[in-house]
Amino acid sequence: MNFDNMCEQIMIDFTSRQVPKAEIAHQLDCMEQVSRRNALLPEAPLFYCQTFGCQQNEADTERIAGMLCEMGYTRTQDAALANVIVVNTCAVREHAEKRVFGIMGQYTHIKDTRSDVIICMCGCMVQQEHITEKIKKSYPRVDIVFGTHMLWRFPELLLRRLSGSKRIFDISGDPKGEIAEGLPVQRDEGCHAWLSIMYGCNNFCTYCIVPYVRGRERSRQPEDIEAELRQLVADGYKDITLLGQNVNSYGKDLGIGIDFADLLTRLDAVPGEYRLRFMTSHPKDASEKLFAAMANGTHISHQLHLPFQSGSNAILKRMNRGYTKEAYLTLLEQARQYMPDVVLSSDIIVGFPGETEEDFQETLDVVRRGQYDLLYTFLYSKRSGTPAATMPDSTPSEEKKDRFNRLLKTQESINQQRQDAYQDRELNILIDGLSNSKDGVYTHCGRTDGGLLVLCRGEDLQIGDFVDVEIEKTSLRTLYGRVTRKGYHG
Ligand code: SAH
Ligand code: SF4
Ligand code: F3S
Repeated sequence: MNFDNMCEQIMIDFTSRQVPKAEIAHQLDCMEQVSRRNALLPEAPLFYCQTFGCQQNEADTERIAGMLCEMGYTRTQDAALANVIVVNTCAVREHAEKRVFGIMGQYTHIKDTRSDVIICMCGCMVQQEHITEKIKKSYPRVDIVFGTHMLWRFPELLLRRLSGSKRIFDISGDPKGEIAEGLPVQRDEGCHAWLSIMYGCNNFCTYCIVPYVRGRERSRQPEDIEAELRQLVADGYKDITLLGQNVNSYGKDLGIGIDFADLLTRLDAVPGEYRLRFMTSHPKDASEKLFAAMANGTHISHQLHLPFQSGSNAILKRMNRGYTKEAYLTLLEQARQYMPDVVLSSDIIVGFPGETEEDFQETLDVVRRGQYDLLYTFLYSKRSGTPAATMPDSTPSEEKKDRFNRLLKTQESINQQRQDAYQDRELNILIDGLSNSKDGVYTHCGRTDGGLLVLCRGEDLQIGDFVDVEIEKTSLRTLYGRVTRKGYHG
């Protein structure tokens, strides 16, 4: 066998998931053309972005903002003044979609007085055909609609519309997806940064729309991720979150023998004073190896978001989650053995089709045993096109709401106990903003290694400082502390 040829073959496979360099160069050229047009205007044009949904969407908006800045636009917080409005949408629950359509009505009215405003919709929601049909028919003032796979092509679409093209709908793109490297990013101010390590999801949980709108899992090359991390650290970012719908399956598609724990360990070796977090972890792919990497790391936060969705094995099966209640609880135990100080959070869906009171009791049981610091709880929302949408669902919505409220109550008392346990303890926090505490005593806010919110007081505090605080007061969501000394602990 010719080894050189084999390497070449492998190289081709590895890079085939990336948007070709020539395409990226074309987008950079389109940005240049828009920028030249904008330079002729009497003053810099403005853009406004609104983001719905999860961290992936926030990270995508930062890419869109990066491209707009490169094209000579300046950000405004007032949509009424903007020349370009971008609404980055979420489809995960019906409520999110309703809010988007509500807001679109307001934005399109801006055209009553300023007809040249360009209105764009992108993100997960527009990746669905019935939604684009609705926009075509009922929202004629929306100029550009582009799907999650076409984000990198935004400069070209904007240039076309500015040059007089008809309204544009581009939701094409390979559902296997592609990765676009080398485009600008405009991160929100502060010491926190998102760092996407992979895109898409292969899990097809039966209630979830994400795999349909975000395409298949695709991992970025480890060297690209590491280079971005090094740049972030050099630029002064101190709280960096690795992003993916299921980070624990990182690398499976690359075929180079690297998994998420390996990636974490590689990234952890990048020197500097910073913290590394990640989300989200799917329990079916979480492993002892991951917990060991977290425990042994210098920069890796002891924070674990491990959604279990339901405590009932029957429901977990119908959700296609790929684990049992018992396996999940064992994972939690392992995580706590490796990291006794781990801050745990989870997502739960209440009222999945066919959920009985007994099933719900199993969920409460996991909540009590899990002793989470934070829970994100959702009422099941039917998503058309997903398998769960056709499952019989006879539980009255009043009953579902009652379960939901009982879940909140159960978690509230656990929360309070967990927060109270931090009283008088010393924690290292990163100060990441000013507090809006009414008493004026606790002037700054920050996050612990595990991600807990702390309001703090002390002399000469700066955003971006790592400091030790002694906790002197607690509430359900917030810890309050006095700064005792400055310094970062790896
Ligand atoms: N990939 C992540 C989360 C993606 S969506 C994960 O698997 O953990 C975030 C959360 O929204 C999910 O964890 C789930 O709890 C919730 N969710 C997703 N689809 C939903 C639906 N149809 N109805 C209610 N909640 C839903
Ligand atoms: Fe949705 Fe499941 Fe994928 Fe999470 S793992 S994005 S819940 S399909
Ligand atoms: Fe929503 Fe898309 Fe995220 S559906 S939750 S914005 S991946």
